Formats: sequence, C-alpha cells, structure tokens
Amino acid sequence: MSSLIVLGCMWGDEAKAKIVDFLGASADAVVRFQGGANAGHTIVLEGKKYVFHSVPSGIIYPRAKCVIGAGTVIDPFGLQEEIQDLISQGVDFSGRLFIDERAGLVLPLHKKLDSSSEKALGKNKIGTTGKGIGPAYSDLTARRNLRVGDLAHPDWLKLRLQGLYEAHGEVIGARALNAELKLLAAVWKFLGPYVAQTDVLVRQWYLQGEYILFEGAQGTLLDLGFGTYPFVTSSHTIAGGASTGTGFPPRWLDKTLGVFKAYGTRVGEGPFPTELFDATAERIRKTGNEYGATTGRPRRIGWFDAVAGKYTASLNGVNGIAVTLLDVLSGIPELKICTGYWASGTKLSGYPSHPLDLEAVEPEYLTLAGWEADLGKARSLGKLPKNAREYLDAIQDLLEVPIEIVSVGSDRSQTIVVK
Ligand code: IMO
Ligand code: MG
Repeated sequence: MSSLIVLGCMWGDEAKAKIVDFLGASADAVVRFQGGANAGHTIVLEGKKYVFHSVPSGIIYPRAKCVIGAGTVIDPFGLQEEIQDLISQGVDFSGRLFIDERAGLVLPLHKKLDSSSEKALGKNKIGTTGKGIGPAYSDLTARRNLRVGDLAHPDWLKLRLQGLYEAHGEVIGARALNAELKLLAAVWKFLGPYVAQTDVLVRQWYLQGEYILFEGAQGTLLDLGFGTYPFVTSSHTIAGGASTGTGFPPRWLDKTLGVFKAYGTRVGEGPFPTELFDATAERIRKTGNEYGATTGRPRRIGWFDAVAGKYTASLNGVNGIAVTLLDVLSGIPELKICTGYWASGTKLSGYPSHPLDLEAVEPEYLTLAGWEADLGKARSLGKLPKNAREYLDAIQDLLEVPIEIVSVGSDRSQTIVVK
C-alpha cells in the first residue's frame, strides 16, 4: 500500500513521462489528476515512439490500470483518436482505462474561445497550446460546463449545451446544435465503457495494498495559483492537485518525486530569468529536440534555475528528485546554474509572485566546467565524467533534496538509479 506523485518542477516538458514509465513497471495504477490534451508526453520504447496527451503513460505496461481523474478536462473526440491510435500501435485498453465521470469536457466552443481570447490579448497573450484548456476550466468554475457524465443523459446534455453557448453570447441554431449532439452521442458510445467513479476505485485499490502512481502534467511554475501567473495553465499542477484532482485523501500521499530537466525550458510567454538567446541555446534546442510535442513550437532555453527549483521543491514537499536530459549538456565547455536573484542591489530571499518583479531580476550564477563524453551509455553515477557528477552535486546541494534518478537518454534503459 503506497502512493507516489511524479510531477514536473519547472514549466513542463521535464520528461516526466520517461520517469513515470521507468517507475511504472511496479505500479498497479497510473493516475492523471489535472490538465488535458495540452500535455504532450513522449515515451520511446525499443525504438518505438508513443505520444500521449490525456491517456496516462502507464498504459504501456500491460498490467497497469490507468485513470483519467476528475480534475482533468477531456476533449472527447481527441481522446477517442488518441486511444484508437494507441490501439493501432498494439496497446491493449480492455479493462484498463478508467475515465472519471466528473472530468470536465473540452468542446469545440472552448477551442474557439481559447483562440479568440489569445487574439484579444494581443501582445499580452499567454501563448497557450490552443487546446481549449483555459475556457474549459473557466466554464467548470463558473458551473456551466459539461462533464463526461453528462454525455449519458441526452436531454440534460442538450439543455446544458445550449445554455453554454448562450452564456458565451453565441447563437447556435437548432440544426448545428443537433449535429453537435449527434457527434457527442457517437463519441459517448466509444468512451462510455471506460467511464467510472474513479475516486472510489483508486481508494479501493490503495486499501487493497496496490501501488498508485500519480502522473503530473505541465509543471509547478505553470500552476494556476503558485506559478508565474498569468502565464500559467488553468489547473493545479502542484502536489496538492493529486488529491483534489482524484479524490485521493492527502493523508495517503506517501511520496513526491520532482522532475527537473538538467537545464531550463519554457514554451509560451512569460518571464524566464535564466533564458539564453545565443548559440548555446540553439545547440541545446537541437540536441535536446526542444520542440513542443503538442504544438511543435520551439521551446525557449535557459540555464538551470536553482532559485525556482528551491521554490518548487518546497511547494511540493518534494522528497526526491529526478534529473533528466543530462546527456544533452555534453560538449558545452562551461555550464551555469542560477543560485540567486538580485533586484535593486538586494539579493531576494524568495521567488517573486509578480511577473514584472520576476522579469526584473538579475540572476547570479555558479559556473561549472562541462564535459565532453557522451553519457548515453552510463548506467551508474560512477560511469559519469567527474564534471557531470559535480554538476549533479551542485543541483542536489542547492535544492537540498537527494537526486534519486538521472536520465541520460530517451530510452527506458538510459536511466541511472542513484538510490
Ligand atoms: P507537458 O505535460 C509545457 C503552457 C503553454 C502556455 C501555458 C498555458 O507536456 O509538460 P494552456 O494551453 O495550458 O492554457 O497554456 O502553459 N503549457 C505547457 N508547457 N508543457 C506542457 O505540458 C504544457 N501545457 C501547457 O505553452 O505557456
Ligand atoms: Mg510536453
């Protein structure tokens, strides 16, 4: 009987799925608790690439049950396609996927609203993934959105859908409304068999002694409340979200593993104090294939930020960390880690909550010597060059949390277990 939360501790894309996949071998259930198809999780297994948006990456393990929890938002059409694509890649879903009937729906209207809201913001736009996430969560908190379970009740669904359009000042004719309802009825036929009250199941599994792994999406600095607001996503990505997003009692959450990339990346707008615009950034982007799995956008690149890392490790109560993509830094002569923020001649003691304050900080850096060797074949810390070990030590010392896993490549086997 145990549970583990694996979550991203920066702005997403920390290779969480790689770590979830690595740990998934022993998990009885893998549970998504927030976000939606804005996530893009890639797993490479024996040279074969699998991309996930809403389905937990644990589905790769035939014995793991997978849950899409109540705190998520689901584009039913996108999810059907995702499941069908995975089935065609040989993944077996029967009796293994459980979608919570309380999860919110992302409808075509939400995608339209996402894009018009970004347009209206102009140069102040958030740089969303365009997947309708913000509008879907906004409609949930405004208590006018539809949820997965509504798909089972056609008359109620019709009223609620009409009400939703009206609430947004959108005129929808009877014909268009009926056409949308028809599509929703068809998608329900496909998804319905997977739908359940997943909170009951997960609590039951836990009490039966099973090992439950919660898979975070996005990252802590994209958390709606504690991230770099307003340049955040619309869900609670922090460890607490694992409980509110699944109905799993906080008292039962045993451990939190924070995933950090060996350098910084960010997609979308918003402050990024350690951002680089030089040839090193270009090199890292290329070597690390730093392009969004969901949108294909080139990711912004920067040095590892231990000030942000300390904030997110503390916010999540992280008691172990995984450092990923360390191999990407090979061949860079000198590496930097941000150890402090300065503003108006003073060193800050915490992480600023206002975007303008974060924009204005001057990072202080620790400079470390790089290494030449390719790390892809290392399977123990001892096989890493001394400078790579010193780089990891610096991260561990600055964050004051032990490193438990180091990833040196995208394949499952390219993983070093420290402890
Ligand atoms: P994974 O799970 C990186 C970012 C977007 C934008 C902001 C808001 O793959 O790490 P949204 O569409 O959520 O309203 O966009 O959040 N964002 C991500 N960045 N990885 C993700 O997911 C992200 N999901 C959203 O780029 O800045
Ligand atoms: Mg991603």
